[in-house]
Amino acid sequence: MLRRQPHRGARPFTFPAPLRRHGPLAETRQRGDRPAQDQAGAPDLRHAGGGTVTAALGGIAPALLEDWFRDRYFAATTDISSSGVRNWALGELRELLGVSVAELDGLVFRDSPSCGRQELTDAVADRYRPGPDHRVMVTHGSSEALFLALSALLRPGDEVVVPRPAYQSLVSTVEALGARPVPWELAPADGFAPDLDRLAALLGPRTRLVVANFPHNPTGASLTPDDHGRFLDLMARHPAFLLWDGAMAELVYDGDRLPDPTGVLPRAISTGSFSKAFGLPGLRIGWCVAPPDLVRDMVRLRDYTTLNSSPLNEFLATAVLRGADAVLAPRLRTARANLDALLSWATAHPDLIDCPRPRGGVTAFPRLRGLDDTRRLCEWLADERGVLTVPGDCFGHPDRVRIGFGGPTDELARGLAELTRALRAR
Ligand SMILES: Cc1ncc(COP(=O)(O)O)c(C=O)c1O
Repeated sequence: MLRRQPHRGARPFTFPAPLRRHGPLAETRQRGDRPAQDQAGAPDLRHAGGGTVTAALGGIAPALLEDWFRDRYFAATTDISSSGVRNWALGELRELLGVSVAELDGLVFRDSPSCGRQELTDAVADRYRPGPDHRVMVTHGSSEALFLALSALLRPGDEVVVPRPAYQSLVSTVEALGARPVPWELAPADGFAPDLDRLAALLGPRTRLVVANFPHNPTGASLTPDDHGRFLDLMARHPAFLLWDGAMAELVYDGDRLPDPTGVLPRAISTGSFSKAFGLPGLRIGWCVAPPDLVRDMVRLRDYTTLNSSPLNEFLATAVLRGADAVLAPRLRTARANLDALLSWATAHPDLIDCPRPRGGVTAFPRLRGLDDTRRLCEWLADERGVLTVPGDCFGHPDRVRIGFGGPTDELARGLAELTRALRAR
């Protein structure tokens, strides 16, 4: 079969280069080389199963979105930036789910199993229906799941097809591991809709992994049910693994949530999160569904970092998944109303805003007309008006801004009004 490599000549990803290229280790840690300190008698990590890769991770690029939030998130009074919905308080959750204080009091802070307590892994499997050959692993947010899965799966020289734009860890982790991200362009001219022909043309003999994140952060683009079927067919015909980042899976506006691909594809890995639709980012619980060999390798890596999750957080996560519909429904209702409000706002100001309609998630990624770089505007809104947005350069599109519409409706209206005022005052 003819394998094309059409990505050659494609623009590289626009995130900052891994620090290794500029930092003090630049000369000693070339990709695949043995770090200098190993030569001085430390263990040769290359023989410990992926050790060279782990050594390279110290040079990973700064996470632009996290840097942006670190400085401003806690000071903002109006948040129209977030990729999640309004957060729940523990008391609200307990009431909604019928969790008693006595149950919480009875919890003992033993270590949890490496892959999470069985009640929780069962609850994940019951809701997302992986095939019988997959295993569930509970992690510290889906961030940890992504990091472990990529680290366990990739080796220097592997090619990884990743949508562009993308949530940065899906690109920068790949790069830090010495693998090569191959951009699957989501074109603004198509409203960022994923083009499967474009994807098919990127698959080649070195493609180790295809990453998909639909609904997509930051654009809200997604696959139609038909395209989802075509996408799975395409993946089934290629030996590459699929990493399905399902952080936004529950946030859909045009029908049902897309089925988790681990139900039909043996080489699929999916990740999920309590931080987005469930409104529980501070629970720091996510999960991964993966083939057993990969889970074993992920556990081996985790043994050197977080070991396992908190039994308290796993208990709450289990209750939330068992009562998922009650937790999700009110937030989804608000998100739907907010999406209408956001699109009406964009329609009312066609001279200022060009906003592709999100099919899912709670973020939109509009272009602000006449602005090549939105960062100074976003800084001004945050510093002078307490309004938090996200500059598009965090996703490689400086002419855009990420707007989160999952929060309270009045907060969204306030934030959009301030944004409009700032744009009109230019
Ligand atoms: C697409 C995507 N994947 C994964 C994550 C990680 O989320 P968490 O670690 O909170 O589950 C995020 C967070 O913003 C995201 O947007």
